[in-house]
Amino acid sequence: MNKNDIRMNHTFLSFFMVFTSLCLTSSCKNGAKESSESNTIQNQTVVDDNEKLYRPNFHFTPKEGWMNDPNGMFYYNGYYHLYFQHYPDSTVWGPMHWGHATSTDLISWKEQPIALYPDEMGFIFSGSAVVDAQNTSGFSEENKTPVIAMFTHHDMEAEKAGRIDDETQSIAYSLDEGLNFTKYKENPVIKNPNIPDFRDPKVNWDEEREQWTMVLAAGQEIKFYASKDLKKWELLSTFGDGIGNHDGVWECPDFFPLPVEDTEETKWVLLVSINPGGPNSGSATQYFVGDFDGKTFKIDEDFQKAQAKEHTFWVDHGRDNYAGVTWSNVTTSKGGRLFIGWMSNWLYANQVPTEAWRSATTIARELGLIKGTDTYRLISNPVKELNDYRAKKISDTAMSIKGKTVLATTNTIDLSKTEINFEIPDVTNGMYTFTLSNSLGDALKFGYDASEKQFFVNRNKSGKIDFSDKFSDRISRAPRTAGSNDLMGKVLLDKTSIELFYDNGQTVMTEIFFRNAPFETLSIESDNENFEINHLEIHELKFN
Ligand code: FRU
Repeated sequence: MNKNDIRMNHTFLSFFMVFTSLCLTSSCKNGAKESSESNTIQNQTVVDDNEKLYRPNFHFTPKEGWMNDPNGMFYYNGYYHLYFQHYPDSTVWGPMHWGHATSTDLISWKEQPIALYPDEMGFIFSGSAVVDAQNTSGFSEENKTPVIAMFTHHDMEAEKAGRIDDETQSIAYSLDEGLNFTKYKENPVIKNPNIPDFRDPKVNWDEEREQWTMVLAAGQEIKFYASKDLKKWELLSTFGDGIGNHDGVWECPDFFPLPVEDTEETKWVLLVSINPGGPNSGSATQYFVGDFDGKTFKIDEDFQKAQAKEHTFWVDHGRDNYAGVTWSNVTTSKGGRLFIGWMSNWLYANQVPTEAWRSATTIARELGLIKGTDTYRLISNPVKELNDYRAKKISDTAMSIKGKTVLATTNTIDLSKTEINFEIPDVTNGMYTFTLSNSLGDALKFGYDASEKQFFVNRNKSGKIDFSDKFSDRISRAPRTAGSNDLMGKVLLDKTSIELFYDNGQTVMTEIFFRNAPFETLSIESDNENFEINHLEIHELKFN
């Protein structure tokens, strides 16, 4: 988020707090109190309806309050840990804490007590956490394995005073597997060298060099650091000047090696979130592929050439996957990284029409790397653990479609906890449009425009849209990069989100929506009047 947003939110928040505290004083007379009691009952019904309508079936949301970026993800003793930017006292952005949730399968999450509170050094902004198995930090006691969190302290006083050095990097350690953290008494461990937007440290263990490597956003560049003990950090290099997309502030980087599928090769991937400047406006995450010698990240030559043509490589082309990073110490059996993003966009995140909470995370995803015809490409797909939640299924092979055809209705499948897999052969021209609709007239459309070689999502009539004029000001589009004539797609539907994985995860689009009632029908149509679907499989997922 950019600094103006932070200031704006802070001002709004101060106003909100003054307003609330005024009402708690004696100036709120009995009459006002009585009417506020009946209001409470009415409000409760509204909140319950809002819960039913919008609380996701299978995406993580905090029970109450505001959430943005995922933070500090690590795996230990059978549990995946997810922390998140959190303001528990309001549903708009405010003094940042680290909320906490755990899961044994990356799909079902249990919220835990808040892990980090703001303090005299400032708000607790985004960062990461690592399991220090060798006790390099020396924080271990009684043989307990320390978990070290590294985060940005954002000093609001300094910001208000107009100082650009308001962000520093600090650490905290946990000796009870990430539940409680003690802040290091010599914080900050990295002072601000007079750089604005100096934040979001992401630490990973570099196996080859046997050292901790950390990437940090610094203005519109990424700084690389190394450490032996997580306390003393040495600046190694800086990346980004004149490379990639610079239409907004650089935030929330991540940096890790990925094996290139079906080869012996490994490449390094740098993720950089950028706000604004996304492919369909607002917040989005770009990536770079290259090599790392322990000090400097050098972008791959072919990647750079392809970038010159294609401009920016995006992790996700939809409007609602931001600030995503990976679990620090676990990979899939194929060496892929586990990723989760924040399913919103700073353009309207503070205005979306949920009542008790704001925002959800994306489904956890496996990131891989493939070598396409011109260069390397990142692929993302839902983690395989999601397959364990498949229940009722409709499936078909060799369907001939003529005109608008209904594929599923709520009579057979609940369309708000759904996985759809499909394959359409020979998509060489025309538009292929899937529509989710209800009897109130809400419609969410998505599909493929073969003539333009573009995927699209159109949520402009999907239900509530008027909370922000930025929410439905366009149809989101994503270029198709896979060469095949056949189109394969996977769709995940929850109450308020759609996640689209095309061509084995080569092009991904994630978007949120707020229909006025559950969708009742899923249909497909094309302006090629007749076409085939080779394979269709619709699963209702097992969630209550
Ligand atoms: C990204 C971000 C981070 C920052 C955090 C503050 O969404 O702006 O750069 O640390 O949010 O909540």
